[in-house]
Amino acid sequence: MPALSKSFALQVPTLYDELEFQYDDELIDELRDLGYNLGDHSLSETDFRDLDFDEYDADGADIILDVPYVPRDEKIVNAMLDLAQVTSQDILYDLGCGDGRILVAAALERNTHGVGIDIDPMRITEAIEYARYSGVEHLVHFIEDDLLEAEFSNATVVTLYLLDLVNLQLRPRLLDELRPGTRVVSHAFDMGDWKPDQRQNCGNINLYKWIVPAKVAGTWQWQATTGETYRVELKQKYQHVTGKAWIDGVAAQLKSVLLSGDLIELQIKKDAKTRPICFVMRCARQQWQSIDGGLQATPAIKIADN
Ligand SMILES: C[S@@+](CC[C@H](N)C(=O)[O-])C[C@H]1O[C@@H](n2cnc3c(N)ncnc32)[C@H](O)[C@@H]1O
Repeated sequence: MPALSKSFALQVPTLYDELEFQYDDELIDELRDLGYNLGDHSLSETDFRDLDFDEYDADGADIILDVPYVPRDEKIVNAMLDLAQVTSQDILYDLGCGDGRILVAAALERNTHGVGIDIDPMRITEAIEYARYSGVEHLVHFIEDDLLEAEFSNATVVTLYLLDLVNLQLRPRLLDELRPGTRVVSHAFDMGDWKPDQRQNCGNINLYKWIVPAKVAGTWQWQATTGETYRVELKQKYQHVTGKAWIDGVAAQLKSVLLSGDLIELQIKKDAKTRPICFVMRCARQQWQSIDGGLQATPAIKIADN
């Protein structure tokens, strides 16, 4: 591996903090076991900035890992599967899958189809062997590839044990390529200003869950069964949506907007004296279909992008 990048170097102490090592010596040993040449550096954050890691050689292949191999323990594997609510209906991707343990556990315990992607051929070989040994090779598939370039758009659940900066590099692809409603669960590392929908503590490690939001920014219009025309103009930052509303062209109050995956709930009231009317719709790119039916006569149609 060429000289450790500054961004990576700054992340490593955080990763190992999460693993509850007691002493710097243990950390150094662990990193040496992972194939890194640490010289005589201590593990202070300052020293990490200057570390010059030797090229990691897996079976003679020069590969650049964006994240070192540190397997999750069984407790975390199960907590992540529970947090993501993984079922037999899901297609689970583990990006940076290591020895494939989360995919094998999901296949064994939940009958889930899984795809593991890892850039290290040694890990892929281990994962294939582990799946075969566990008798779930018909459910899981492993691909040697760079997770930053690999195809994963058919996932319904994505699990990650990477680093903050790798999560940030992945973030635009997760938001653009995964279908709304896909769950993303990360071990220990977050996604910057894309705040999680749920956070759970497991031991002293944080697990984060996001639900990929539909893209809803724009101006939308529909008719209620009362004959009134509703219009909303929405702005969006990830799953947080704000905006304005009109009823028959007259400014109304958009009391609340909740977006979860491809489901949106809008509460709109004419004025301070009236009760809000609630519309719940399933979002597609150009049209939202009512799912509670009652008060809505037409689907909402996108009339402007804003
Ligand atoms: C912290 S380990 C997590 C392993 C596994 N997901 C688990 O939880 O047991 C990170 C994994 O990411 C892999 N990795 C690092 N950089 C990668 C890249 N650019 N593309 C694919 N995999 C990568 C490493 O080989 C390693 O197996």
